Amino acid sequence: MQINGERFLKDLHDLRQIGAAGVGKGVVRPAYSEADVAARRWLAGRMREAGLRVEMDPMGNLFGLAEGKSILIGSHSDSQPEGGWLDGALGVVAALEVARAAAEAGGPAVSVVSFQDEEGRFGVTTGSAVWSGHLSQSDADALTDHRGVALGEARKVLAEDVTGPVDAAQFTGFMELHIEQGPTLDTAGETIGVVSDIVGIRDMNITFAGQQNHAGTTPMHLRKDAFQAVAAFTTELQNRFANVVTPATVWTMGHVTLHPNASSIVPGRAVFSMQWRDGDADRLGRMEAIIRDLAAEIAAARGLEVSFGGMLGLEPVAMDARLRAALEAAAAQVAPDRWRIMPSGALHDATNVSRLMPVAMLFVPSIGGISHAFEEDTAEHDLVAGVDVLARAVAGLHDS
Ligand code: GLV
Ligand code: MN
Ligand code: MN
Repeated sequence: MQINGERFLKDLHDLRQIGAAGVGKGVVRPAYSEADVAARRWLAGRMREAGLRVEMDPMGNLFGLAEGKSILIGSHSDSQPEGGWLDGALGVVAALEVARAAAEAGGPAVSVVSFQDEEGRFGVTTGSAVWSGHLSQSDADALTDHRGVALGEARKVLAEDVTGPVDAAQFTGFMELHIEQGPTLDTAGETIGVVSDIVGIRDMNITFAGQQNHAGTTPMHLRKDAFQAVAAFTTELQNRFANVVTPATVWTMGHVTLHPNASSIVPGRAVFSMQWRDGDADRLGRMEAIIRDLAAEIAAARGLEVSFGGMLGLEPVAMDARLRAALEAAAAQVAPDRWRIMPSGALHDATNVSRLMPVAMLFVPSIGGISHAFEEDTAEHDLVAGVDVLARAVAGLHDS
């Protein structure tokens, strides 16, 4: 099977135009936004042109199906609130190209998917979480975004495109090409990373409730300032984690809401997202205990109330040995001495799909290690090399 690099790059740039924003090749295409819906309809058209049967499940996961048993390839086409042109989109358009090349070569059968809300406007990899049975549709529908919009409301924008549930039994396995989103390959001057494992994640909201008051008349020692509690929490957390984490462990407070958020008011309430990731599920649990204890301690010392929102999470997963071996063999052909085996610190739909079938993943470099930002980019020759490895792996699996 022979991939067409120009055809693939043209599609990737065409998709970038849908929701193009910010500097460089930035994209704003969050789940169920106007741009996301337009991108899914555009992709559906390209799938049909490739001879695939288009189906969409009630979450908005979009499938281009080959006849009979097939391997499923893809990723997601929604973006972060400020995202790049490749996170997810690369894997979907690469899958489309491999499906076309396979059809032109007379086989093997390749199906394509673009999962919905991988970037977590509502949850964590929400579309594939529902498809894989990890999350029920009714629990997903109750999730809300930072503005309070419920997923059950938001997904109505795709109602007329939905055909019904898509049966996973027709697929023999799942492969996903993605940008690395970190500095390892770029720093080493390498082209391909074959993924060994995907880390696990925990994500929950924490609320400190104090006393809203006048910023001019309330003495410092009488304040119950919710923002000061957040500041104390984030500083002390670093110390409490010291004997538990490894250099690969990460934690982030990326979204904070202060109430009422005004210069002359002592903030009465702060709600923030607390997210942490690691390859070891036990360590994730120990970190959770530290987080809960410290938040309670800080609240008590300052006369505030603390409360914890529902916990979202995914466990660490290892890639399937057979699919991974096919990617390794293909990487050795396309980029001899310029590929490695590496873990994924980012989350991917493959984690959820691993509940249903064997999965494997590969990475191409991210320039400067930048992602989840408008500046995200990858050299075009590396993008094409990634598609080439994917196509060879699919062909290799078919022949073996
Ligand atoms: C997915 O985009 C992640 O946050 O790793
Ligand atoms: Mn992604
Ligand atoms: Mn992402």
